[in-house]
Amino acid sequence: MSANTIEHNRSRQSFEGLSSVWLFGYGSLIYKVDFPFLEQRPAQIEGWARRFWQGSHDHRGTAEAPGRVVTLIDQPDARCRGIAYRVSPEVFQHLDVREKNGYLRFTTTMTFTDGSGHAEGLVYIATPDNDAFLGPADEADIARQIAGACGPSGPNAEYLLRLAESLRDLGDHDSHVFALETLLRNPAVD
Ligand code: SIN
Repeated sequence: MSANTIEHNRSRQSFEGLSSVWLFGYGSLIYKVDFPFLEQRPAQIEGWARRFWQGSHDHRGTAEAPGRVVTLIDQPDARCRGIAYRVSPEVFQHLDVREKNGYLRFTTTMTFTDGSGHAEGLVYIATPDNDAFLGPADEADIARQIAGACGPSGPNAEYLLRLAESLRDLGDHDSHVFALETLLRNPAVD
């Protein structure tokens, strides 16, 4: 599948008759909120693990030196914490451009971790069949790749560090993200 998903996403869900839609954010959508929202709540989704397995040559890297950003990997016993935003459907015009490098919108059930119940909503996932997918690698190698990449949105390291910080603020312990953070801060610790 082509890494540019803008057209593909436009035809995936119909927003007809909806005044708002829930969006689950688990990566940069947690800490870089460059879109208007009606409300936000901490939330989690079941069966998905956050991994730095998606390549980024348009935001946090270049074609020559791609960075790594997060996507979700299907894993039955996993759960992923993040932030749910209730947005008006027009906001997806902006989000589809922002998430165009391989991410498709999927429907998911999110559980609000403040005890306020569940909702159906959308989440952007870069699946293994997209051209920019990099897949698993040794965490030390992933950390080295992140340390050396920089793109139009800034250093790849900033993406990792801001995500780790936001997950800590949410009370999450994501062992993959925190291990990469430690490796990035202490390059000698292998
Ligand atoms: C997300 O944050 O939910 C999607 C991945 C990203 O934009 O970093």
